[in-house]
Amino acid sequence: MSYLEAVADFYTEVAQTPDVGLCCVQSTPMKMPGLVVPPAMQEMNYGCGTTVHPAELANAPTVLYVGVGGGLEALQFAYFSRRPGAVIAVDPVDSMREAAARNLAIAAKANDWFDPEFVTLQAGDAFALPVADASVDVVAQNCLFNIFEPEDLSKALGEAHRVLKPGGRLVMSDPIATRPIPEHLQRDDRLRALCLSGALTYEGYLERIIGAGFGQVEVRARRPYRLLDRRTYGLDQHLWLESLDTVSFKVAIAPMGPVSLRAKWRPMPGLTPPLMTRLAMFCCRGCPWRSATRPLPN
Ligand SMILES: C[S@@+](CC[C@H](N)C(=O)[O-])C[C@H]1O[C@@H](n2cnc3c(N)ncnc32)[C@H](O)[C@@H]1O
Repeated sequence: MSYLEAVADFYTEVAQTPDVGLCCVQSTPMKMPGLVVPPAMQEMNYGCGTTVHPAELANAPTVLYVGVGGGLEALQFAYFSRRPGAVIAVDPVDSMREAAARNLAIAAKANDWFDPEFVTLQAGDAFALPVADASVDVVAQNCLFNIFEPEDLSKALGEAHRVLKPGGRLVMSDPIATRPIPEHLQRDDRLRALCLSGALTYEGYLERIIGAGFGQVEVRARRPYRLLDRRTYGLDQHLWLESLDTVSFKVAIAPMGPVSLRAKWRPMPGLTPPLMTRLAMFCCRGCPWRSATRPLPN
């Protein structure tokens, strides 16, 4: 079985039996006037950051959302683009599309502005997006591309670039690794599906985005995400994952250089790596999917 088949099996499982906190980020849902997120949809928040930046969603853009999950961000995008077919949500996992359709139907009862026709759920995958060249304003994906092996990541980024209109943007949230993830973890398909072992380093991730032809990349958020502790994961030392939110623009690469990068991340004063490690060990003891792996050491 290929790692992509293992990933599809994994997401079939968590579509049928939602796993609260799968990605270990219990964020408060975005609050907008009149937007009600049904609990069933919130429970299936399998993202690791956000791709919905309200200030940039004027003029009802057409959004292609890759890897729909429970439909949370598709609903949030539809809040800004209230017309049939404005959000095209693609997922290769039948059960996941079914779960998203169920959740969107519940959302329609709780939100009088929302019509499920605003979101078109389509079978398809990140490597062959079922839309024409240069046809959408925004491509978004949350916590999916990190799962892909590097060559597949480049393919998925290339597809996103293909379907974007000139000037369009790719909005992503993914884990990155503070140092290269060792081979034995990278080869573990389940950890990869859990968004724990496919992450590239910050530089490696940005290089792939630039390599796909995006002329400008903006880093919107970068924060501590999860700790791979050395005993559980067979490492020499603990390894930090961070969550990175980026927006990449389909614009020509400037003659001065390949990319204009505006990092807005600032380390929190006093949050040193040992303190981050202790904080994460403390937080992860309560992490709901911990029981699916080996217990954390004392
Ligand atoms: C970690 S979940 C993220 C779901 C959603 N973006 C969220 O934030 O809750 C990954 C999603 O990508 C889907 N997926 C898996 N393989 C895919 C592929 N090759 N192309 C597109 N989507 C895929 C899964 O079925 C799942 O819905």
